[in-house]
Amino acid sequence: MQIARDERELRARRAQLPEPVGFIPTMGALHAGHLSLVARARSECASVVVSIFVNPLQFGPSEDYDLYPRTPERDCELLAAQQVDLTFMPAQAVMYPVSPVVSVDPGDLDKHFEGARRPGHFRGVATVVLKLLQMVAPQRAYFGRKDAQQLAIIQGMVRDLNVPVEIVGCPTVREKDGLALSSRNAYLSPAERAAAVRLSAALRSIAERLRAGETDIHAMIAHATQLLPPLETDYLGVVVPDAFVPLATAPPKSHLLVVGAALAGKTRLIDNIEAQTP
Ligand code: PAJ
Repeated sequence: MQIARDERELRARRAQLPEPVGFIPTMGALHAGHLSLVARARSECASVVVSIFVNPLQFGPSEDYDLYPRTPERDCELLAAQQVDLTFMPAQAVMYPVSPVVSVDPGDLDKHFEGARRPGHFRGVATVVLKLLQMVAPQRAYFGRKDAQQLAIIQGMVRDLNVPVEIVGCPTVREKDGLALSSRNAYLSPAERAAAVRLSAALRSIAERLRAGETDIHAMIAHATQLLPPLETDYLGVVVPDAFVPLATAPPKSHLLVVGAALAGKTRLIDNIEAQTP
């Protein structure tokens, strides 16, 4: 596996790769969720490029940028074992040699849920992803549905700004008990880890009611909120996957997403589950 640390090196190595090129942007601290995206790209593309960059632009001032887990040696071993061709590991000064004057506005998809809780987060995500797509110039880029609002914003950005790449959304990888894998799970104490499963259980309870034909979303959320303690509820909601506006009533024959975030101690967990209404 080749490693590139600056843009010139990246472009030179990328130019030698057979196409189609599949690209997976990450912030490292890799787990089986990330590796499922790599495996999907490996199965569909002639070459696979991964980036590892903890993007300061997408962390709020009181968030965990400094603490975010960084395991670059282990990440490289895992990626080499998955036959990744090229890993891009830029320093902050490579991505942001000057403080950026232009950034990507995530628009209305930023108004609710993660966008409302984390002001500036999706602007930072969209901006770094656009920069990485420009540098890597892949034919396909792979994103997890675990971060469903992020995926919707990236799909909207690529469509609205005519970025020549196909965005591929991939299923959420979970622990046996249902907890979605996340680099932030490394922060959880044993007691918090045991409680963390309640978020996916609460989302499932809403999804089951939607599938059974219930329509009062506030009632479903009130019931599911009772399932969360000792987790502290941040939000629960039901949305149309490409809109991310909270619904009050479930429409019939619709493909919906049940979204949620909760705190286990100081660690913020997010997750979502699909539900089809009858
Ligand atoms: P990161 O959290 O490292 O995630 C990188 C990719 O892995 C994202 O597309 C995310 O949705 C996916 N992923 C994470 N956990 C997953 C799981 N349990 N199952 C399936 N896929 C999973 O998301 C980011 O980094 C950043 O915002 C980034 C897009 C790299 C921009 O900085």
